[in-house]
Amino acid sequence: MPTKFWFATPIYKGALSSEEQALVAQEIDQAIQDSQATAAFGMAWREPALSTTFKYGGQSNIIKERNLRHLANQIAKHTQLFCAELKIDRYQSMDIENSWINVSKPNGFQFAHSHEPSMVSGVYYHKTSGKDGSIIFESPNVYFTAYDFPNNSAECSQTAEYAPIAGRILLFPSWLRHLVDVNQTQEERISLSFNLRLRRKPD
Ligand SMILES: [Fe+2]
Repeated sequence: MPTKFWFATPIYKGALSSEEQALVAQEIDQAIQDSQATAAFGMAWREPALSTTFKYGGQSNIIKERNLRHLANQIAKHTQLFCAELKIDRYQSMDIENSWINVSKPNGFQFAHSHEPSMVSGVYYHKTSGKDGSIIFESPNVYFTAYDFPNNSAECSQTAEYAPIAGRILLFPSWLRHLVDVNQTQEERISLSFNLRLRRKPD
């Protein structure tokens, strides 16, 4: 094809095996139980249908605080695959800067936001029916809406939507804005979000 699509935005989609998922599920269930016991799920964040261990102004790092080692290993593995696809070879290690559990109740949603100033962000879906709110990424290319340029191709679309699937992990640049659709079911959706920093190899 003579037309090439430049300036792409990478969004990684990976999945844990059922064995890996079971190990991670045990850890997260325990962390939720412990967090409820210690009131780590603080006040509802922004709106009452979302309960989270995220805290403004402080470091929330449920993966480190509760030693979720299986999940940390999975994040490291999938980040390596993501970096390989991006042809990143100058990083030697990865830190989980912060991480938090989100419990989205019926009618729960999240406004559009980004995760700056981190490098790479992600989400892991722990418990979901698949119908309790997709994550929707917004195109960073504002010119497509600001100017009149006709196109109907997936590569130039304004949004990219991913329905939640238990055991799925998504990774994306921290600057990429996204929102979460309304949970229109009567069940809770539980996910775990995280921010990563890649450490550069010494010169
Ligand atoms: Fe987010």
